[in-house]
Amino acid sequence: MYRSLVTGCGAYLPSQIVTNAELAKRIDTTDEWIRQRTGIRQRHIAADGEFTSDLGSAAAREAMAQAGVKPADIDLIICATSTPDETFPATATRIQTRLGVGQGAAFDVQAVCSGFVYGMAVADNFVRVGQAKTVLVIGAETFSRILDWEDRSTCVLFGDGAGAVVLQATNGVEKTNGAKARGVLSTHLYADGTHHDALYVDGGPSSTKTVGHLRMEGKEVYRHAVVRMAEAIDAALDANGLTPGDVDWLVPHQANIRIIESMGRRLNLPGDRVVVTVDRHANTSAASIPLALSEAVGDGRIQQGDLVLMEAMGGGFTWGSALVRW
Ligand code: ACO
Repeated sequence: MYRSLVTGCGAYLPSQIVTNAELAKRIDTTDEWIRQRTGIRQRHIAADGEFTSDLGSAAAREAMAQAGVKPADIDLIICATSTPDETFPATATRIQTRLGVGQGAAFDVQAVCSGFVYGMAVADNFVRVGQAKTVLVIGAETFSRILDWEDRSTCVLFGDGAGAVVLQATNGVEKTNGAKARGVLSTHLYADGTHHDALYVDGGPSSTKTVGHLRMEGKEVYRHAVVRMAEAIDAALDANGLTPGDVDWLVPHQANIRIIESMGRRLNLPGDRVVVTVDRHANTSAASIPLALSEAVGDGRIQQGDLVLMEAMGGGFTWGSALVRW
């Protein structure tokens, strides 16, 4: 059985930043309301003509450079996105071409804000059975394109961006200095489609032949998020015989600072062990975890041997966790 090591991380954020104060000039909201309820101060918005595949390609290039892998090494590209460039082909295939990767498989994963955790799970399973050796897992989104900019209860919450990781197979079990096995230890995925109406996009090729706009019952999502993500955290720890005290870093989906802090408290983690980007990025859906990972690896917070716990919940509902010994 092989195991997947995370060998590189990358990120890309569009250059245009929109602050809460700028939004308050266009819609009936205030910086204070947005910050108090969500912790968001600003978000990045993709430029006209800048697509999800552009964001994803830039993040992937950075992850590949960090991992020291070339296009010829990649045998699988998974792009988690709910805002693909086109209905088909998969955005992953657009990214494949941009990167100059001429072999292997490429497909998208659609699990909204849980997309990156779903993508990690799929990639890790390909690696474990020996079907892929070097995998790019990308979370890339241009949620600004599916927001109803007249709906203040949703449009203030989201932003655009992309993050990526390179997973590489190891057949010996790589050990840390303390002789603990490195790599993806486990992934846990869940879905419950009965909650469709709490979070969905009111359009699609088959139903309306339009793209549609995001619709959300914020309170309902919040209520489920705290319970479901806690379940996913417990499942990850139980499956590995670990306790909250073993976790070095929580890298959660970045939707709302209050949800993030409640997960940190559940793990008894000091605030500085919880990676937070929601203040600057807002909710970038499938991109939020790899963006946060990339930041915390890039600035030296996450070190080899650290136990990193990722968790997310999104439309569907879908939710899940991934536990990685860095
Ligand atoms: N500015 C000012 N007032 C606003 C705004 C705004 N942008 N939006 C809503 N309000 C008003 C409402 O109209 C309401 O006013 P009323 O009391 O006069 O009717 C009041 O603020 C309270 O609105 P609520 O929706 O009850 O506010 P709540 O405290 O629930 O906070 C929020 C809303 C921030 C959306 C919260 O419910 C939340 O974070 N939910 C979770 C969202 C989430 O985690 N999503 C993740 C998954 S996303 C994905 O998968 C794509």
